[in-house]
Amino acid sequence: MMAGENLNLWYRDAVFYELPVRSFYDSNGDGVGDFQGLRLKMGYLSDLGVDCIWLLPFYDSPLKDDGYDISDYYSVHPDYGTVDDFQECVEEAHKRGIRVIADLVMNHVSDQHPWFQEARKDRNSPRRDWFVWSDTDKEFQQARIIFTDTEKSNWTWDHVAKQYYWHRFYSSQPDLNYWNPDVRTEMMNVIRFWLKRGLDGFRCDAVPYLYEKEGTNCENLPETHQFFKEVRRMIDKEFPGTILLAEANQWPTEAKAYFGNEDEFHMAFNFPLMPRIFIAVAKEDRVPIVDIIKQTLPIPPTCDWGIFLRNHDELTLEMVTDEERDFMFKEYAKNPKMRLNMGIRRRLSPLLDNDRRLIELLHAILFSVPGSPILYYGDEIGMGDNIYLGDRNGVRTPMQWSPDRNAGFSKADPESLCNPVIVNPNYHYEAVNAEAESRLPTSLLNWVKSMIKIRKKYNTVLGRGEIEFFENVDRRALVFLKTFENNYMLCVYNLSRKPVALQLDLSRFAGWTPVEVQTESRFPPIGELPYFFTMSRHSFFWFKLEPDGSDGSDGSSGE
Ligand code: GLC
Repeated sequence: MMAGENLNLWYRDAVFYELPVRSFYDSNGDGVGDFQGLRLKMGYLSDLGVDCIWLLPFYDSPLKDDGYDISDYYSVHPDYGTVDDFQECVEEAHKRGIRVIADLVMNHVSDQHPWFQEARKDRNSPRRDWFVWSDTDKEFQQARIIFTDTEKSNWTWDHVAKQYYWHRFYSSQPDLNYWNPDVRTEMMNVIRFWLKRGLDGFRCDAVPYLYEKEGTNCENLPETHQFFKEVRRMIDKEFPGTILLAEANQWPTEAKAYFGNEDEFHMAFNFPLMPRIFIAVAKEDRVPIVDIIKQTLPIPPTCDWGIFLRNHDELTLEMVTDEERDFMFKEYAKNPKMRLNMGIRRRLSPLLDNDRRLIELLHAILFSVPGSPILYYGDEIGMGDNIYLGDRNGVRTPMQWSPDRNAGFSKADPESLCNPVIVNPNYHYEAVNAEAESRLPTSLLNWVKSMIKIRKKYNTVLGRGEIEFFENVDRRALVFLKTFENNYMLCVYNLSRKPVALQLDLSRFAGWTPVEVQTESRFPPIGELPYFFTMSRHSFFWFKLEPDGSDGSDGSSGE
């Protein structure tokens, strides 16, 4: 935790950056990224302007689910370094004013975890009850299967235990039994262990599934909320200023419930919004975005959504209708290899056909709708993917640092890399890399950097401001006003492939002047008549509205 700062609500103003230590930077030449590597790249992240890093799981693990299958909660995977390396890395981040949260996988462990090994071998072992066993595979039939491409049931027969065990994800990830108080106590200890070593909070994995109960779909049970409230009480008391971010891939009502009465999670991902941004641009229609944002508001004032375009998983299509899912597959996953389970395993740039204007448009939406933006490593340079790698590995390839061997990620032989680097000509690391892009003023990297700066300059109004949609305009345009105290930001997006002309009723601001914030260009003053905009395809404007006779001070939150 960082001392001497206003700890309150820092996450509401933060830009987050998600990264896998494994694929970020290899400092010792073994082909796998590590904590010393991440430490060395902290300057890049601070230059980019991010406020908080989210580390994907780095604990010891057989890596059957890329580390979401933990075999020891109290250690760092030896490929990535040691607990001391982790701590040094967090200290380096803190020195630069960057916070660090980490994935916490509480629902399940690896089948290699000694707890499971003990449990399966002996019915009388106290560990037995740490997992969920049954003599049949017929219990909890209402629970859906999540990894539909690989798992046929949430039960798997264990020939050593001579019983079935319960798992919501891969069969190599037995679920822990949260009805057992020792499991809950142990998890509190895990949380304390890492917060004592400097973490600023957790991205809590798979939160809806902790408890199972017959006759329910085994998601979002009251006991699950109760447990997280206990976790929250503990961290508020022992580690004030640290946060909990929920991965609850749920519809708005169920997702919102994780904020509790400001006594549960500080943040939750906005899963329903994400696919609707893609639907809206493909359909050239703002309605999917507007409808869902309205459903996800209001939320308690000390809570916030974590909003994102892409992450380390497939672009999940669980929180859309069947019709919307078919549409998404048709638009964004023409090759069957692009599909996985209920989603699309592609990165942002390839999803958008590497169209710079669309990439910018989606980032601008991300930086202005309610919530804190979460960027996925590599998307800021427009990295490509590899749909021919298994599982979700195609979106987890090495970060492209430079045009050197292995994209500057590692000095190892190319064949020993944790994942091959991207060599598709459209996304080849020789051109798409952090070093080359940092030298090119017009690069995507420099553009994203400038947008992060603007977002931070105006983070109260852009981030925390109330949103009000303009609904009497052409459906191809997304227009809203954000208001925070006396600051106003007008955001106008053309979601269409064609130019659009708009007339906005801004008469309540008659006499005020819109000032475009990327360039500080002053537009003609607003009058009583409709205000006209012509917008080229996939373009956007952010205007701060300045009152008549303004002294030119920009109403920003400082800097
Ligand atoms: C979450 C993670 C995903 C993982 C799963 C099981 O959904 O984001 O990567 O496979 O949980 O832990």
